[in-house]
Amino acid sequence: MPYFSEEWIQELLQKVNLVDLIGEYVTLQNKSGRWWACCPFHNEKTPSFSVTPEKGFFHCFGCGKGGNAIHFVMEQEKMTFPEACRYLADKVKLPVPDIKDDSNYEKRKQQREKIFAMNKITAQFFHKCLYEPQGKDALAYLHGRGLDDRIIKIFGMGYAPDKWDSLLNLLGKEGFTKQDMQLAGLVKINDGKCYDMFRNRVMMPIINTFSNVIGFGGRVMDDSLPKYLNSPETAAFNKSKNLYNLNMIRKQKNLKRLILVEGYMDVIAMHAYGIPECVATLGTALTQDQARLLKRYVNNVYVSYDGDGAGKKATLRALDILAREGIESRVVSIPGGQDPDEFLKQYGKDGYIKLMKASLPLMDYKFRVTAEQYDLNDSYQKEKFAKECVHLLKGVTSAMVREKYMKKLSELTGFSVNAIAQDAGAQQGQEISWKLPARETETESADLKTENCLIRLLATNPQTALKLDGKLDEGDFRHPANKKIFSYTLLCAKKGFSPTNAEILSVLQSEEDLRHATELFSMPEEVLGELKNFDDFFDDCVHRIQLGRLEADLKIANVKYESETDPEEKKALVTKISALTKEIHKLKTSF
Ligand code: GTP
Ligand code: MN
Repeated sequence: MPYFSEEWIQELLQKVNLVDLIGEYVTLQNKSGRWWACCPFHNEKTPSFSVTPEKGFFHCFGCGKGGNAIHFVMEQEKMTFPEACRYLADKVKLPVPDIKDDSNYEKRKQQREKIFAMNKITAQFFHKCLYEPQGKDALAYLHGRGLDDRIIKIFGMGYAPDKWDSLLNLLGKEGFTKQDMQLAGLVKINDGKCYDMFRNRVMMPIINTFSNVIGFGGRVMDDSLPKYLNSPETAAFNKSKNLYNLNMIRKQKNLKRLILVEGYMDVIAMHAYGIPECVATLGTALTQDQARLLKRYVNNVYVSYDGDGAGKKATLRALDILAREGIESRVVSIPGGQDPDEFLKQYGKDGYIKLMKASLPLMDYKFRVTAEQYDLNDSYQKEKFAKECVHLLKGVTSAMVREKYMKKLSELTGFSVNAIAQDAGAQQGQEISWKLPARETETESADLKTENCLIRLLATNPQTALKLDGKLDEGDFRHPANKKIFSYTLLCAKKGFSPTNAEILSVLQSEEDLRHATELFSMPEEVLGELKNFDDFFDDCVHRIQLGRLEADLKIANVKYESETDPEEKKALVTKISALTKEIHKLKTSF
């Protein structure tokens, strides 16, 4: 990640007061040097969430979540690593450095900020117009669609006047040039003539999670076309990387699921009917980036597209995109070709909740859509249906889930689970040619304990990493977090610098790595203090790790030897096995 320099991140982490930062979200209590609270990441009644400010990290002994200040902000504010860095830098008034590998970055940033400024003025202007005499029809239109003034205010809706130059004049007075306005997608320039892009439309501002207005959607108030006019892509508006209503989603606590709908009006109607956990794409089909964005908030998404043919097609597409991010999705099927907005008007919140309860998980939905294409009373068609479903099942990686749906398919078609399993499994087995023999779990966990101890020592006393230089390398460690911590501390030690725990954590990204590392760093110092002969213990660790690595290599070589048919390769393996055996012997006798 060539984003911010290590030095800058170090400075940032040093400036942030972790207790103050986390104290903004939970009530911390000091007990014997550590700070405790009920964990903000899982439900609990007795505090198991701990903050160790002098080392700069948090760790929950309940759910295992952990990290430094940057990770905390990423988790709480749903930000990416660079976003969280900027957020913290802003808080502690640390200037954010220019990004060196992107010389356009500053220029684009300034351009974006200018667009945000224009958009903000514009949104306020449109909203004001809605309540002026010129906005009478627009207001009546919104009221007529069941939206009251409270909802209109929440979504910042407005009215773009039926004139060619109202925005042009306003923004001009504010000191913006026509070119600025054009870059913001607020005016059009044609044959040298400049005019407002949005005219006589009901306006919906699109707001990002930082509360900036990034663009607009404008709807006509009759049946004329195009129904919607959306802001074009600008330096501030990327349709494939944003979602409508995410600004409000971010503020919701304990979000368990999100509902994905097609239209702005659906989101607004859902909110009006008391279902606020709803987002929509911005006039395009769902993208992978948007799915990734959703994944930052929830693991469960209800796809609630229009009940018509186009809606079904879009649903299947969205399901695949969501599945690729590992999101569990369900489909809310709206009867009668209605969209959520129309359905709510007729059946209310209770009606919609019923639909949600009856929603189908991805595979059930796919089975149903597939079944609709065949006459299952016809024996040949039933076979074709079964084959198509078996094909769908091949994409399911979990054996348990596959079994569940094989049973279901068996019930639907009358074919035996056995026959279905044979067809569905035909491709599997092939991928696994040979498997590493499972090492006895006991030695494995002993090895892991050893390397954990060593890493704990390194984290407390990074300069000791120099002693390992040349003796161990990344490959000697089993746990991916241990590999990274080892490399980073060694690198720092070579530069004559001792990183803090918080700084070490900033090289870790995955939740699992952070969990592992903060658990390790939370181990009480006393455990290390008891090690009377520090150097002996250290050497012992190194020995054990080296031995573990060699023994694992030996096992792999032995397995390969068994299955190898090429005589040349076999010979090479014999040489390798003998060399490894010798090395292991040497190591064993040397301590
Ligand atoms: P209503 O028809 O007022 O209920 O709005 P809706 O939000 O339900 O719209 P609809 O279901 O027809 O379309 C879904 C979404 O597709 C909209 O919210 C827009 O983002 C987009 N969309 C619809 N019509 C157009 C159009 O004519 N042009 C563009 N660019 N986008 C459109
Ligand atoms: Mn609609």
